[in-house]
Amino acid sequence: MLKSINNHEVTNKTILLRLDLNVPISNSVIQSTFRIKQTIPTIDHLLRKNNKIIILSHLGRPEEGIKTKSFSLKPIATVLEKILNTNIGFAENWIDGVNFSQNKVVLCENVRFEIGEKSNNDNLSKKIAKLADIFVFDAFGVAHRKECTTFGISNFLDTYSGLLVDNEIQIIKKTIKNPTKPLLTIVSGAKITTKLKLLQKLLEQTDHMILGGGILNTFLCAMDYEIGKSLYEKSSINEAKKILNSSNYNKIILPTDVICASSDSYHDSQNKSLSMIQSDDRIFDIGTKTVETYKQYIESSGTVFWNGPLGFIEQPPFDKGTKEISKIISNSNCFSLVGGGDTVSLIEKINLENEFSYISTGGGSLLKWIEGEKLPILEKLGAYDL
Ligand code: 3PG
Repeated sequence: MLKSINNHEVTNKTILLRLDLNVPISNSVIQSTFRIKQTIPTIDHLLRKNNKIIILSHLGRPEEGIKTKSFSLKPIATVLEKILNTNIGFAENWIDGVNFSQNKVVLCENVRFEIGEKSNNDNLSKKIAKLADIFVFDAFGVAHRKECTTFGISNFLDTYSGLLVDNEIQIIKKTIKNPTKPLLTIVSGAKITTKLKLLQKLLEQTDHMILGGGILNTFLCAMDYEIGKSLYEKSSINEAKKILNSSNYNKIILPTDVICASSDSYHDSQNKSLSMIQSDDRIFDIGTKTVETYKQYIESSGTVFWNGPLGFIEQPPFDKGTKEISKIISNSNCFSLVGGGDTVSLIEKINLENEFSYISTGGGSLLKWIEGEKLPILEKLGAYDL
């Protein structure tokens, strides 16, 4: 069983609470509040038990030792304060002590500004641990990293998981190990290399699999389809062939048509069947017939696990297929688990974030969990014990 604040009384303490507030920010404006909102139950729980909270998080990947403004967590403090409906403090310099005279919750500046954070430096972990009595880890999105604030501190402080982490683990375990059948998985992304283990693992468990993006194109190429100048990964053709030659091959549902544009323009897009793709075409989205086929699979599934947009969603109208698939999943009766920053941002953009059974805050961490990799802090807290 997980060692969690849900099954251990944590009262009247000063808590170091590691969250994942790594949200997309453009020109100081937060583009998605999803991850921030998901932290509220744990903060509320700890406040109800009369604790003082020091919130730690990273934002992006700044160079250690340099406090770059674009990586500051300050804009997040304002949003968190609004969502939490409680005043919170912001500590630019916190490593030598945090002042609670004004507020019971203080958000510290980006932990990745501190030299030693990324390399899990023991001295830094020890120093941070001295700030509090208890460490609560509730940053599922960064649980695959072994850094001071995602692991090292737990060597020096009594450590518990938070409510978000508990929930994520419980739902992901159930969805992948014991799904309501049939299980349909949708996996997309630029490269097979980064998702190879995931594909292999999921193909063992899933009943049907839909592929998208560069991964799909690489499979099409491995099957000798013309893909023109579409994004694909030459070095993974052999891996794709191995999968195609395996017994799981027939679980993969290929598109019948796609949206293409010529290599130097986005404006001449056309819906084409796979056999009509020309040498200067680029595939940017799934086609209309394919959406209909996928709809039938989704509607007859008991569970859908979805990671990765199915088209070039940054460039409308190539976000159309992904938007339609979002609507179909959200209208279906299946249990739907979605993860990955890009997919979640698009779902939020079309206001469907409350229409899925569960949206994970994990990207890389979720994939690593499903691949079977042990996430360091979660292993330490007992997440893999029976
Ligand atoms: C994420 O957004 O996937 C997490 O916050 C982890 O961020 P990182 O890949 O920079 O460690």
